[in-house]
Amino acid sequence: MCGIMGYTGKGNAAPVIIDGLSKLEYRGYDSAGIAVCQEGKLEITKKKGRLADMVTALGELPESPLGIGHTRWATHGIPSDNNAHPHYDCQGRIALVHNGIIENYANLRKDLMLEGHDFVSETDTEVVAHLVEKYYNGSLEQAVRKALSCLQGSFALAVISRDEPHTIIAAKKDSPLIVGLGEGENYIASDIPAILGRTARVYILEDDEFVVVTPEQVTVTDLSGNLVEKSVFDVDWDPIAAEKGGYEHFMLKEIHEQPEAVRKTMSGRIHDGRVDFSDLQFDEVFQNTRKIFIVACGTAYHAGMVGRLAIEKLARIPVETDIASEFRYRDVLWQPDDLMIVISQSGETADTLAALREAKRNGIKVLAVTNVVGSAVAREADRVIYTHAGPEIAVASTKAYSTQLVVMYLLALYLAEIRHSYDPVKLSGMVRDMLYMDTMVEQVLKEQDKIKALAEKYRSVQSTFFLGRGMDYAVAMEGALKLKEISYVHAEAYAAGELKHGPLALIDEGVPVLALISQDKLVDKAMSNIKEVKARGAVVVAICKENLQEDCQECDEQILLPRVNPLLAPVVSVVPLQIFAYYMAVFRGADVDKPRNLAKSVTVE
Ligand code: F6R
Repeated sequence: MCGIMGYTGKGNAAPVIIDGLSKLEYRGYDSAGIAVCQEGKLEITKKKGRLADMVTALGELPESPLGIGHTRWATHGIPSDNNAHPHYDCQGRIALVHNGIIENYANLRKDLMLEGHDFVSETDTEVVAHLVEKYYNGSLEQAVRKALSCLQGSFALAVISRDEPHTIIAAKKDSPLIVGLGEGENYIASDIPAILGRTARVYILEDDEFVVVTPEQVTVTDLSGNLVEKSVFDVDWDPIAAEKGGYEHFMLKEIHEQPEAVRKTMSGRIHDGRVDFSDLQFDEVFQNTRKIFIVACGTAYHAGMVGRLAIEKLARIPVETDIASEFRYRDVLWQPDDLMIVISQSGETADTLAALREAKRNGIKVLAVTNVVGSAVAREADRVIYTHAGPEIAVASTKAYSTQLVVMYLLALYLAEIRHSYDPVKLSGMVRDMLYMDTMVEQVLKEQDKIKALAEKYRSVQSTFFLGRGMDYAVAMEGALKLKEISYVHAEAYAAGELKHGPLALIDEGVPVLALISQDKLVDKAMSNIKEVKARGAVVVAICKENLQEDCQECDEQILLPRVNPLLAPVVSVVPLQIFAYYMAVFRGADVDKPRNLAKSVTVE
């Protein structure tokens, strides 16, 4: 995710753009930039760091009626001054900002370089500037249209040219973009908060819409140039709430961003029904790996637990998943063909970094899975796979977890493919199932009101239990962590089969037990554990797949999940637990986005 803001009109563009970007920093904040048109020249300032660093670099604000700006969250190329947007062409005629991922950028870049275009950044975006330059023949609109026809992937784009000092050309596909309609001035932005207070009249652009914005006119067409009739959306939002996209807290917003985050993390990784990580150029290591150590902390560790089950099942490689803070005190029996996978949203967690360094000291190859481009683990690992969750602002991790799961599955499928360790027909069935994960998450999000009602009912409990077997146990761990962390309710997760070995003594009259039942083959076992807790007075909330509903009749409440492939179930089954934890915290008056005693990433010992 990145934030885009553009202005054309009777006022001065720079302060309007900077103010708009400040409302969009939730979308990204590793670098920022602005381009304005002054006396037939484009003036571009861009800087690694927060928006404030770019504003300092800008110094006195330039006077200009036209400009575009960007606040970045890196996806291609580390955060740096060069990789910051706006990007420009060789002649300094065109400047553009982009949010999304250009999947075919590598081929485009190669061709453009052969044609003599010089590139100055590592980004996917820069190819678009050079494509517009290539097709420019006196009309910015036509050049952008032609450039767009070459692109695969997702984009929200805003382009300006020194030759057209009052025009912004913008277009959208799979990344958000709106047009703010003013009087003698108009705006484009990634999200409504950027223009709130300036205008309440907005066009919300749909995919494949293309817009020409001047101070007096906004013309929306499809990508082929056919006029599109838009209706004006009248915004009546509270400006503070709007930064959270209308959600009360970032956590709830991020829970709802999961379908998009899942989609983006898979984007470009599945071709012709197969997972593709060949760009990592790590196949030799993947082929020869004899054992994998997955090391992480907290929620990322829980994603690693799922990763272990998926890799062992599909790729038939032994996997150990360990907590990073414990791993460093182990006397690990390293073998030369071991591989370490570290998972870290922030990429800066001290214990995870220490485990990574320990592996490297022992000559072990390390693959990092992280959400932050250029973070410490990304820099120090041999290879990196990025989760494209966008910035996670709430302390409690939600969308980072689901995207970490997606990477674990993609990796397991890829390893199985290249090692020929699993039935290829079943494998391609699973790849197909992966493509439905985003819509399945969307489906579960619709259960929000029901889950909220449950949280209201149980808001005053002292203690809760989460039960599951196999994949469901890993998710139970995550559900319990979330509840403890933000609602301050005591929560324990148990492998359901372990109950009778002691913990059953804790179950008492009226204690809520959240039981995960997504594994078709384990449903009978799960039900016999549920009977044990019910016999001791527990109230059981089943999070179960709709096809297992009949089997779960004895549970007191049911939250239904779609018919997901059991192996992939965690991406879906965690969602009700996240929503439950969120509403428990809300009803108990906790500070949801900033729980007590906790920070976003633990970078110091
Ligand atoms: C829980 C949570 C933490 C993090 C953990 C690791 O909601 O956010 O448990 O998962 O601190 O952080 P990263 O992934 O940044 O290494």
